[in-house]
Amino acid sequence: MRHEVDFLIIGSGIAGLSFALKVAPYGKVCILTKAEAAEGSTRYAQGGIAAVMYDSDSFEKHIQDTLVAGDGICDRNVVEMTIREAPERIAELVRYGIHFDRGAGDRFDLHREGGHSEYRILHHKDNTGAEIERGLLQAVLDHPNIELKEHRFAIDLITQHHLGQRVTKHTPGIECYGAYALDCETNRIDTYLAKITLLATGGMGNVYTTTTTPVISTGDGVAMVHRARGVLQDLEFMQFHPTSLYNPAEKPAFLITEAMRGAGAILKDLQGHEFMQKYDSRLSLAPRDIVARAIDNEMKLAGVDHLYLDARGIGRDNLINGFPTIYAKCLEAGINITKDMIPIRPAAHYQCGGIKVDRNGESSIRHLYAAGECSCTGLHGGNRLASNSLLEAVVYAHNAAEHAIDRIRHTAFHVQYSAIPDWNAEGMALNEEMVLITQTKKELQEIMSNYVGIVRSDLRLQRAFDRLNLIFRETEDLYNRSVMTEELSELRNLIACAYLITKQAMARRENRGLHFSIDLIR
Ligand code: FAD
Ligand code: SIN
Repeated sequence: MRHEVDFLIIGSGIAGLSFALKVAPYGKVCILTKAEAAEGSTRYAQGGIAAVMYDSDSFEKHIQDTLVAGDGICDRNVVEMTIREAPERIAELVRYGIHFDRGAGDRFDLHREGGHSEYRILHHKDNTGAEIERGLLQAVLDHPNIELKEHRFAIDLITQHHLGQRVTKHTPGIECYGAYALDCETNRIDTYLAKITLLATGGMGNVYTTTTTPVISTGDGVAMVHRARGVLQDLEFMQFHPTSLYNPAEKPAFLITEAMRGAGAILKDLQGHEFMQKYDSRLSLAPRDIVARAIDNEMKLAGVDHLYLDARGIGRDNLINGFPTIYAKCLEAGINITKDMIPIRPAAHYQCGGIKVDRNGESSIRHLYAAGECSCTGLHGGNRLASNSLLEAVVYAHNAAEHAIDRIRHTAFHVQYSAIPDWNAEGMALNEEMVLITQTKKELQEIMSNYVGIVRSDLRLQRAFDRLNLIFRETEDLYNRSVMTEELSELRNLIACAYLITKQAMARRENRGLHFSIDLIR
């Protein structure tokens, strides 16, 4: 089946929904999302969204904190623009009906997280993302110009390649005309043709065994752009969150927000001793990469698979009222955080790199925009400052929308839609053996966790690269003879992302930001 729209949006997290609301007055909008609309990292965000709201703080301080965390790789102009735009975007979220906690005099109650020199995190208790997703989704569902289709899995972007032209990385002027997407209810692959396409597909945490990200985070957008020969950047910088709840049976790993350390919780070893003084003068509130590496090192030295976060000093009432989701979740797991220390370990959490975009959110492929975690804007550099990603998503959704609206008004779109073929599944057979997919996914996650995790080495990276090559060849073989399914497509995407992370890690010959190799110690 063929569909024609002005704006095609792939993903219904903060980035996709914010963009949709902005472009909706200017054309027909269709959002495709592979699960239920609310599912994605956005709804699990706990800590909040960073912004300078009052005179006790300053743009310059937030800019400095972002640049320091990014370890010299951020684009300073992008950092300035994003941080200065933040109050306007926050006001907009409030206008959509999203609530952030307030304190005395109706001022926003601001939290502090690792790497921030000031209290500047707007939050809704410890479930900020759920509140943002609720508010945006409601506004989208109320909008007459937006059609939101759940359980539609975007497989590939449509470019000149589908018009029979040879497209390589060096082809000038690659253009995007929409995407092919699997209707997961009917198993039909539809053709979505659009003047403007936005990728808002989120992260790729599931490249690793332990991740805080939901199962939908399989790097689909990045892999689609890779196959369409677009430009990707900074994929070696995978951020591991220091404190996910240690509960090996649970996937995804439940996050214990950094705001808890901001409120006074302290990292301790299994004997109950503090250890961060050995690593950084900012102790438990040092930037995330330092804390995650310190925990990794302590776990390896002691030969254990978790450490503790001691939140008891925060006080019973503050814990129960300020962190109700975490309190309830831990209680369910038999941990009373007002009395017991919380077992924690690091988990893959956020992909700092992604689809390279300019200040307007446009990728190297014309008419293709990207926003949110799948994009690489230059804001995060080598390491994202906590709570800067929700902010980045709304700022870039706004910039991309303004640019795309202008594009649609002033550009003649020449492509003949009738020349674009439908998806060809001729000669493909049903894959009868799911184990070929599930086992390969497990292998991939183990390779990445063991060899391309928090601490790397030349030998580990080479091993990963060799093993990924084998997995890649086997899976391409399966793909070339099988009917397309969501599981197969996700596996291909995970393999592409793992390959890109590893390749870019091998190419980086210095320890910078989140890339740390024992062979490159300065
Ligand atoms: P997501 O919200 O992940 O949405 C991606 C969307 O794309 C989903 O709708 C998904 O179904 C869809 N999709 C993906 N692939 C396809 C496909 N092939 N076809 C169709 N649809 C597809 N950041 C902060 O700034 N502050 C925080 O406090 C914070 N806390 C976090 C806590 C947790 C547990 C996690 C995991 C992340 C946290 N982050 C936080 C990071 C932040 O939540 C994410 O970076 C952000 O929400 C990403 O938004 P997004 O719109 O880019 O993607
Ligand atoms: C957290 O609440 O610790 C997560 C914040 C983030 O990832 O930005």
